[in-house]
Amino acid sequence: MSWNPSSWRDLPILQVPEYPDQAQVKDTEYRLAQKPPLVFAGEVQNLRSQLGKVANGEAFLLQGGDCAESFAEFSANNIRDSFKVFLQMAVVLTFGASMPIVKIGRMAGQFAKPRSSGTETVGGVELPSYRGDMVNGIEFDKESRIPDPTRLLQVYEQSASTLNLLRAFSRGGMADLHEVHKWTTDYITDTKQVERFEALASRIDDCLAFMDACGLNSSSTAAMAETDFFTSHEALLLNYEEAMTRQDTITEEKGWFTTSAHMVWIGDRTRQLDGAHVEYMSGINNPIGLKCGPSMDTDDLLRLIDKLNPDNIPGRLTLIARMGADIVTEKLPPLVKAVKEAGANVVWCSDPMHGNTVKASTGYKTRRVDDVMREVSGFFEVHDSFGTYPGGVHFEMTGQNVTECVGGLVEVTEARLGDRYHTHCDPRLNAAQSLELSFLIADLMKKRRDNQKKLAKAG
Ligand code: PEP
Ligand code: CO
Repeated sequence: MSWNPSSWRDLPILQVPEYPDQAQVKDTEYRLAQKPPLVFAGEVQNLRSQLGKVANGEAFLLQGGDCAESFAEFSANNIRDSFKVFLQMAVVLTFGASMPIVKIGRMAGQFAKPRSSGTETVGGVELPSYRGDMVNGIEFDKESRIPDPTRLLQVYEQSASTLNLLRAFSRGGMADLHEVHKWTTDYITDTKQVERFEALASRIDDCLAFMDACGLNSSSTAAMAETDFFTSHEALLLNYEEAMTRQDTITEEKGWFTTSAHMVWIGDRTRQLDGAHVEYMSGINNPIGLKCGPSMDTDDLLRLIDKLNPDNIPGRLTLIARMGADIVTEKLPPLVKAVKEAGANVVWCSDPMHGNTVKASTGYKTRRVDDVMREVSGFFEVHDSFGTYPGGVHFEMTGQNVTECVGGLVEVTEARLGDRYHTHCDPRLNAAQSLELSFLIADLMKKRRDNQKKLAKAG
C-alpha cells in the first residue's frame, strides 16, 4: 500500500470522536483544507536539523506547555507568561548544559486528548468523556459532550493567533538575552531560588558585557536578540492533520508536511504498528515524536522505528519515555539498549509527567514534583549506564501560579490543590516549580559534562 495523506483512513483507529453529523465533518475538513498553512517547510527543516544535533549529543531539547490548551484560557497574558517561563528555563539549561537548547512548545494546536475511558460518571450520571476543546465541551452535561466538528476551525483560528504572538515574542525583542535580568521572577518567593536565578542573571550580564566589548551584541548578532521557538502537539485527530497536510512550494524538498505545527507526536494510546496514527505519521516529513510508556515492547519499538524513520535520519524521530518514577530504571534500560544495538538515530527525551499522575486525598488528579524529578534523574542514570545521550525533557507546565502539582520549594500542599486548579486535563507544573526543575536538570547536565571531561582526561 502506498502512502498518501488519507491512506490512514483504511486502517483501524483508536481515540476518535463519533460525530453525529458526517456531512458537517466533511464540510469542516473541506474548509480547513482551504486555509493557509500555519508553519512553513523551511521552519520544519530547521527544527529537524536542530533535533539532529540533539540526536548527536550536541544540543538539548526542552519541550513543554499545556496538557490541553482551551478556548476559555486563551489570552495574550497566558501565552506571554508561559513563553517567559519557558525562556527562563531554557537560559538555566543553556548554562547548565553549555549547549544550545532546542525549544518546542506544547502550544498553538495542543487541543485534543486521548482518554483512558470513553465515559465519565458523576453522581450516578454517565456521559461521554471530555476529549479536549477540539472535540467537545468540558461542562458535564449531555449537550456539551456531543462532539462538534466545527471546533476544528476554532482550533485552527486560535492556533494561528497563538503562533502569531509566539513569533512576535521570539523575534521582537522579548527573547533578547539582555532582558534576562528584567524578566520578573515575582512568582518565586523562596529566597534561595531567587538568589540562584539572580546569580545566574548576573553571570549572563558579565558574559554579555565581555562579548559586547568584543563587538558581539544584539544588533550585530541575531542569536543574542531572538530565538527559534517551535510548536508541537499530539496528532490525535487525523482528519485535521490531513486537511493541513501540504506539499511545499518554496523549498526543494519533495513530499508532504503537516503544516499544523513544526513537530507532532504519537500518543502512548495510539501507537499501534498497523494502526491509522502510525500510518499517517510515517508519511510526513516533519520531525515526529513517539510516546513510550511502560507497556512498550522492545520488538514493537524497533518495528516502529523502522516504519517511522526508515532512512535513519537523526532528528526525524524523538522517543519520549514516560514510564513513572518508580519503574523508569527497570522499564527504560531494555529499550535504550535495543535502540543502541540497532544503531537507530533517535532523540531520547523524558516526559516525567504522564507516568506520575496520582489521586490526592482531596480527590484532585495531581503529580508530585519529587516524583517528576526522580523520573528525570532515573532517565539520566539509565543513559549514563549505556553511554547514550539523555537528549531532552518534556513537561506539562504553565506560566500561571496554579496549584495543580504538589511539592516544590514554594510548596503546594494537597490541602491547597483546590485554590487555583485550572487545568482542562492533566495537572501542570506552575511557574516556580518549572524553574526549580530546570535548575535540577541543569545540575544533572553539568554533572554529566564534568564526568565526561574526567573520562576524556583519564582515557
Ligand atoms: C499527553 O502528552 O498529554 C499524553 C496524553 O501523553 P501520553 O500519550 O504519553 O499518555
Ligand atoms: Co497530559
